[in-house]
Amino acid sequence: MNKIIIAPSILSSDFANLESEIKKLEKNGADWVHVDVMDGHFVPNLTIGAPVVKALRRVTNIPLDVHLMIENPEKYIKDFALAGSDIITFHYEAAKNNVDYLIGLIRSYGKKVGLSIKPKTKVSEIEKYIKDVDLILIMTVEPGFGGQKFMPDCAEKTSEIKNISKQVIVEVDGGVNIETATYCKKLGVDALVAGNYIFSSDNIKEAIASLR
Ligand code: DX5
Ligand code: ZN
Repeated sequence: MNKIIIAPSILSSDFANLESEIKKLEKNGADWVHVDVMDGHFVPNLTIGAPVVKALRRVTNIPLDVHLMIENPEKYIKDFALAGSDIITFHYEAAKNNVDYLIGLIRSYGKKVGLSIKPKTKVSEIEKYIKDVDLILIMTVEPGFGGQKFMPDCAEKTSEIKNISKQVIVEVDGGVNIETATYCKKLGVDALVAGNYIFSSDNIKEAIASLR
């Protein structure tokens, strides 16, 4: 079995000190950094945009796992690609009939493609796209805020996805802590996003290691 990928979410970090926060993650064993982009429309919260990704890119080589929780992702993919994202994940629910186009657009910039589903979206709705993307991001909370409670039923989508493609990376996002991480790993999840759990700990190195 491959090593689990740990992707701390900077949503819970100190935004006044993003450079030192991201370097701390890199130094303490994070595999990727998860960047939550929210537009106040697709989700009821606003966070950061491509200029912040560009600034982070200047100070780190760690893969930037960019999670677009935005309407009309086609308008912004270019900006996030040129800013230096490594993986660009958009939401199925925001893509309408544009999924194939968005996959091609992200690939045209040489980036890895992720497709995300909200808790109420079934695997059967995205089945035909699973083999065309690099990563499926399963939301285990309603997107919009850090620090919410993990929904175990959502994580169970992992086996359905893996039955369609063994290659695709299954990443789980929302409410991940030491207990829910153990549950996800049993289900065969490949990558874990964790915000609150990591940034509320006194020892980031131990917190990251504890999720492995
Ligand atoms: C929620 C975001 C998550 C969030 C995870 O909309 O997509 O990435 O930051 O935070 P925790 O780990 O605190 O649930
Ligand atoms: Zn996220």
